Amino acid sequence: MVVTPHLVLIGLMGAGKSTVGERCATALARPFVDTDRLVELNAGATVAEIFSTQGEPAFRALERTVVADVSVSPESLVIACGGGVALDPDNRRVLREHGVVVWLRADPVELALRVGSGAGRPLLEGGSPATKLERLAVLREPAYEAAAHVIVDTDGLAIGAVADLVLEEYRTWNA
Ligand code: S3P
Repeated sequence: MVVTPHLVLIGLMGAGKSTVGERCATALARPFVDTDRLVELNAGATVAEIFSTQGEPAFRALERTVVADVSVSPESLVIACGGGVALDPDNRRVLREHGVVVWLRADPVELALRVGSGAGRPLLEGGSPATKLERLAVLREPAYEAAAHVIVDTDGLAIGAVADLVLEEYRTWNA
């Protein structure tokens, strides 16, 4: 168990987890990790390649290993989670145990604007990203809610403002 809990960001694709996470990591002077990038590093393949050659269950297994590993890092981290991380009960448990979990919540319409064509995101391929994000938002809301210690609503806010809110919540949680 780390002395200071990790700052963990969850939420749908396009929620700003990586960009906000990097800002928060700089402000807190601690390392930033992104579960998608670590999966890619470990697999030697992109997320899209893993989905297409090995399938989603293989990606989720790789993701679970990364989440378990980073959660027990003795150094406090800022962790940006892939959008599906919080669906897994083991992931939720280990992240909540070792971190303060912040759900970056956003309206699917706004998320769709941010992800554009959805390129590089296998779950958004082959149809309208907006429709897919709306479906995912409904399906995943209970899991995000169960995972989160804190919810930050990001609609209409610039990245810097979201990062400030996240840091405020995180510091309050640790106080
Ligand atoms: C996924 C989100 C992606 C990536 C993969 C699956 C999801 O990460 O892990 O494409 O299930 O929501 P981002 O949320 O960082 O785009």
